[in-house]
Amino acid sequence: MPVSTPPTEPSTTDPVLIFDSGVGGLSVVRALRAQLPGVPLAYVCDNAALPYGTKADDWLVARIVAVCAAAVAASGARALVVACNTASTLALEALRERLVIPVVGTVPAIKPAAALSRSGVIGLLATSATVCRPYTDRLIADFAAGHIVQRVAADTLVAQAERLIAGEPLDPDALDRALAPLWAEERLDTVVLGCTHFPLLSDVLAERAPRPVHWVDSGAAIARRVAQVLDPSAPAGNNAGTNAGTNASDPAWATGPVSPGLTRGFAGFGFGAPRSLLV
Ligand code: DGL
Repeated sequence: MPVSTPPTEPSTTDPVLIFDSGVGGLSVVRALRAQLPGVPLAYVCDNAALPYGTKADDWLVARIVAVCAAAVAASGARALVVACNTASTLALEALRERLVIPVVGTVPAIKPAAALSRSGVIGLLATSATVCRPYTDRLIADFAAGHIVQRVAADTLVAQAERLIAGEPLDPDALDRALAPLWAEERLDTVVLGCTHFPLLSDVLAERAPRPVHWVDSGAAIARRVAQVLDPSAPAGNNAGTNAGTNASDPAWATGPVSPGLTRGFAGFGFGAPRSLLV
């Protein structure tokens, strides 16, 4: 008869694991560090399979579950944040079936964007996969039914955000080409950054916009949700962090090669050099 070990209780020293295909999850890390200072984090990027946004759904589900399960085991995480819209709009159910820890997803911030827009015309800037997922259709039907939603697939911005974090120069033409479809509709006044890579570029995107618009991302909302998951008794919006200050060197993992620039980029967000995760 197999002997099973009783599950160990999660401890406040166990990290919250952030997962993305690449550096996009660092935009969520920024919000988590601000709202939950002192909560230990861990990071895993599936950079061997980057980008996710142009890959087949079946392959992605299996890959995402395998990478997250391996990283949860390696990090001893007490919760997982899927800091990737492309993964969350596809694989949250499969992840929750496989993992015993709480899983918090990231989906495009359609609801706050619809509430913010005065003109009723909003843009959704995301990966090719996210812009046409049934999950995204449901978000739009539920929260932006009376709005015009301009869906713009901007996969090239993923590579630009990777370059920014690695300290490499950006390609201004690639940025302008990716944004151009947004400006066709003159009434558009609000843009959902529906890929976690894009808030990393928000200053650059705002500089290149022909007119001021609201840029809306999910980072702060995810941090609030994580605070609730870690301490369900804390009033919503309260800072559930226990220790002041950030952790200088939280652990990180990557499935592919990591350049020195990327290691420096991770260090800027409080992570040590990514170790290799075998999947
Ligand atoms: N950061 C991911 C997202 O939020 C996607 C990047 C990719 O295509 O891998 O959608």
